[in-house]
This record gives sequence, C-alpha cells and structure tokens, in this order.
Amino acid sequence: MELQFTNPWLPGDAHVLDALAQSEITELRLLYDSSNYVFLADLSHPEYGEGLGVYKPVAGEAALSDFPYGTLHRREVAARELSTLLGWDIIPPVVERDGPRGIGSMQLFIDHDPDDHYFNLRGDEAYRDQFVRIAVFDLIANNADRKGGHLLLGPQQRIWGIDNALCFHRIDKLRTVVWDFADTEVPATLLADIDRVQSCIASEDEGSAAFRGLLHPAEVAALLKRADAMRSHPVLPEMYPWRCAPWPLV
Ligand SMILES: Nc1ncnc2c1ncn2[C@@H]1O[C@H](COP(=O)(O)OP(=O)(O)O)[C@@H](O)[C@H]1O
Ligand SMILES: [Mg+2]
Repeated sequence: MELQFTNPWLPGDAHVLDALAQSEITELRLLYDSSNYVFLADLSHPEYGEGLGVYKPVAGEAALSDFPYGTLHRREVAARELSTLLGWDIIPPVVERDGPRGIGSMQLFIDHDPDDHYFNLRGDEAYRDQFVRIAVFDLIANNADRKGGHLLLGPQQRIWGIDNALCFHRIDKLRTVVWDFADTEVPATLLADIDRVQSCIASEDEGSAAFRGLLHPAEVAALLKRADAMRSHPVLPEMYPWRCAPWPLV
C-alpha cells in the first residue's frame, strides 16, 4: 500500500510559487514508481510554514532520443505557464529551482488517492468537462506522455495533470490515454481562451514572456500552429492508428 501524505499548502494559496521557490528543503524521499529520479520534498518556509513538493532534478532525468537533455523540468514549468495564461488551473504550481541534487522542477504535491486515476474516473459524468479540457490542453501542448496515473483527483473534486515534462516538442507527438471523448466538440469558451492566448503569444505580449522564455522559438511557433489547427477544426480527434498511447498506460 502506498503512503498517503497531506499537504497543508494548496494550489490556490496566494504565495504558493514563492513558497515552492524559496523554502528550505529539509528532507527528500525517493518516489519509487517513477522512471526518472523524483523526490517527495519536505519544505519549510519562515513565513509560510511547512509544505510538500515534488522535486525532479535535471540530474535524475533519463536521457531521451527526441527531447533535448536538460529541458524537461522547464517543460513542466511551461505547461503550468500555459495553463495559467489560458485561465485553466489544471497543472499544479511548479517552479524551476536549485536543490540538493541540483537544478530541477519543484511542484506542489497534490493530495490524492493513487487509485483515483483516469481509468477509474473516466466513466463518471461529474468529471467529463474536466477531462475534455485536459484533452484540449494536451493537444495544444502536444503532450507525449499523458498516462492514466498522470491525472490526479485532488481536493474539491478537481482533476490535476502532472508529469508534463514531454510537452511542446515541435513535431506532433500526442500520446495519451484520454481517447474516450473523441469527436466531442471543443466548447466555445475553451476556444475563446485559446484564441486570446494565441494572440498574446503571437504578438509577443509581455504577459506571455515567461512562457515563451521557457521554450525554443521553434517550439513556440509550433504551438501557434497547433492552436490554428484546433480553431479551424474544433473537435477532439479519434485515436490515431499509430503512436497514440504512452507506455505504460498508468
Ligand atoms: N504534483 C504532484 N502531486 C502528487 N504526486 C505527484 C506529483 N508529481 C508527481 N507525483 C507522484 O510521483 C510519481 C512520479 O512522478 P512523475 O512526474 O510521473 O515522474 P516521471 O517523470 O518519472 O514519470 C507520479 O506517478 C505521482 O505518483
Ligand atoms: Mg510519470
């Protein structure tokens, strides 16, 4: 049985990014079900108290043939930035920072029951809108690794997408388990958000500077093209005949 943890810090806390970035890391515990070195970090801040983060040091990244080494932690932060720009609070707060194993990402730990993953929740109508929005996000972000266990059910029945390290490749690489909503029309409110963010990025508006700074310009250009494609055909696609699912599935 997996241990369950309770994080006093919540995604909506006003200072959560400062808390993640500035806290002292008092203890690291290896999370064993990961392919990279991923640590549960005990954090302590003089003002915000104690909390829990998930620390993924660059030094613990498994080398991949298609993603440039050393960029995965920044892709995690870019995914959060994109979700914030869209106004979709679906990626837990995460920062780039130094730690005992060097530079990496530090993400807020979301309290969850590991049995409440996508495959156990997808049939429940209560989560449908959240899953559709995540499927839209993964298309725009070009997520190459949306496993069932990367969708957590957090407090207040909110679904969170974790492990967004394999996003934003310039070549289409969508690999996901979220195919149950194929043929669903993308809701107009989501398209309006995409439209707004696309303009903000394309015009190099200051508001998108942090996001753009985390990726290669060619990756930003590819994102704009995917947004165009989504707006001209706003329907969630059918499962492709090849390379459509990550491995393992959970
Ligand atoms: N923000 C988070 N909140 C709660 N648990 C997390 C979070 N991020 C990762 N985990 C846990 O750690 C495991 C490994 O993290 P993940 O990001 O999937 O690493 P890897 O890149 O090695 O697959 C996840 O399967 C999940 O159980
Ligand atoms: Mg993972």
